[in-house]
Formats: sequence, C-alpha cells, structure tokens
Amino acid sequence: KLSPFPRPSAQEAASSLNLTHRPRRNRKAEWSRRLVRENVLTTSDLIWPLFVVEGTSGSQPVASMPGVERLTIAGVAKEAERAASLNIPAIALFPYTDPVLRDHTGSESLNPRNLVNRAVREIKRVAPGIGVITDIALDPYTSHGHDGLLEGEKILNDETVALLARQAVLQAEAGSDIIAPSDMMDGRVGAIRAALDDAGFEDVQIMSYAAKYASAFYGPFRDAIGTNATLIGDKRTYQMDPANTDEALREVALDLEEGADMIMVKPGMPYLDIVQRVKETFAVPTFAYQVSGEYAMIQAAAQNGWIDGERAMIESLLAFKRAGADGILTYFAPRVAEKLKAQA
Ligand code: PBG
Repeated sequence: KLSPFPRPSAQEAASSLNLTHRPRRNRKAEWSRRLVRENVLTTSDLIWPLFVVEGTSGSQPVASMPGVERLTIAGVAKEAERAASLNIPAIALFPYTDPVLRDHTGSESLNPRNLVNRAVREIKRVAPGIGVITDIALDPYTSHGHDGLLEGEKILNDETVALLARQAVLQAEAGSDIIAPSDMMDGRVGAIRAALDDAGFEDVQIMSYAAKYASAFYGPFRDAIGTNATLIGDKRTYQMDPANTDEALREVALDLEEGADMIMVKPGMPYLDIVQRVKETFAVPTFAYQVSGEYAMIQAAAQNGWIDGERAMIESLLAFKRAGADGILTYFAPRVAEKLKAQA
C-alpha cells in the first residue's frame, strides 16, 4: 500500500510558488468568464443551407446527414418563414434536380422556371425579409456531376463562365439577393458581376466561394443533391489542393478585384487557418462553410454517444468566430438559433 502524498498547507504551497499571475482568477465563476469572453456566437452569424426537391408532398431524409431533409418548394418556404422568425439573416438554396432533367451541358441551369428559381420566388413571396443566397455552378444539372462543361476529360473554363453568368442573371430575376459562385472557374466573378450589372441587377451581391478546396468533406452534400453516384473522376482541376495556403490568398485577391462583395472559405473547420489569414489580409466580409461532412461527423459521433453533440455544435461554431469569420454557413443553423433564443 502506497503512503499518502504529504499534503503541504495552503500557505506553504502558495509561498513556495509565489505566483504573480494566476490566469485561473478570471475563470473562477460564470459571471467572470462572461465578463472576459472574447467571442460571442449570435444568430446574426448564421446562414442556413437548405435542399429543395421537386414535388408537392413529403420531404426526403438525407441518410448521411441525420436531421437534414430535401424539402419541396412549399416545405422550403415554410422553413424560410421559420428562419425569419428565428432571426436567421439568410438561407442558401441547393436543388436536387430530377435525374431526367440532367444532361451533359447542364441545360436545366438556364431554365428560368427551374426548381431553384421557383423556390426563390416562393420564398420571396412568403418571407420577403430574409436574405436568399443561390449557388452558381453546373453540378446539380449535369449528368456527369461536374461544376463545369466537360469535354473529354477536360473542364472547359471560359465556355462554362459564359453559362454561369447567364445562370446568375436568371437567379437574380427570380429574386435572389446574393449570388454565390461555388464552381471555382477562373474569371467567373468578373463575368457574373458584368452580366448582373448589364441586366440592371447592380444591387445583387456576390458571395464568392473564393477558396474552395477539393475536399472529401463534401460527400454527404453530394448524396443530398444526387451527384455522388454520377460524378466522373474528381474536381481537382478546379477546386484547390488542400496542401496550399498562399494560393487561397491569390484566389481571394482575384475575386475581390473582380467585384466580390463577400468571400467564403470552404470547408470550414479543417481550414480555419485559411479563414484567419484571409480575414487578416483583406479585412473584408469573410464567411466559412461548415460543410456536410463536418456536420455528419458531429452528428454521427453524437448519435453513438461518443461526444456531447450539443456542446460540440456550439464549440465548433465558436471556433469560426475565433478565427475571424463574419458568418458561418451551417446545417446546425436552426438548432443553434433555437438554443440562442431560449437562452436570451
Ligand atoms: C457544388 C457545391 C458543393 C458544396 C456546395 N456547392 C459540393 C462540391 O463542390 O462537390 C458542398 C457543401 C457541403 O458539403 O455541405 N457546386
């Protein structure tokens, strides 16, 4: 049996350490921790991504994203109203296009009455006060799942950009407030800005997915929009190499020169260093996307009882604030907003 450690008196212990600084003093009570807190997560930081699907009844769960469903236009409009009542500033829409409408060139993207454009009109009708963000890229519409036009094994940059600019004008006509190009083609921000201005949409904002990496964390999203099964090859000739940092700054600089109003880094948590460097370097509105795979990881571990999902959710979002993000696209948005509302 071990003899107990001879415990010194409190006074003996304190005098032998002779500490001037005791950082724990500020942490001793909840009121003090609140007083010295450097970052706060608020509802104004949240953007809620929503998936929309054709049809009039029912929603479809996304198996790899527990708690997330594809919603009909009516369903999405209802959630937009809920977002507005929770004071969430903006939602982001992603369509699941009927496979029969997908083709080699993504022509459904140029249908003024396609799913996403109809959804925007309906949301603007029922919840006019909420910001609506729409995605610019061809992947929901192409049979091969790529964000651009595919010729042989090559993604055609300039021809794709011409289509994206037209797609952006159609979304603006439908009522989209923020056009968010996620395709990573060169020169698309400038082309979209020019096309929007020509069409009289100089007030429509552009949130550029400026530093978007070729990531494994998009898997569940591709389930949600139905491109996982069809994607030919990968997106590494246009999305960025996860090994690079300087290249992100160059991408952001170009998009700002071309007229982006806001910048996004994506994925989020594995790229917080990029968020921080972008914010420090450019001092512009900077957003991060906590993508589907990040959401799925937290949900899966929580469902297994391996982590406290509620705490992990808040902690993960606070990390974006610490890194300097002005806002976060997150599938947790309504849950967080409910929680913050209950605490207020
Ligand atoms: C595609 C797009 C993707 C996401 C948003 N827009 C996936 C991809 O590039 O394949 C990912 C979002 C997420 O994973 O939550 N234009």
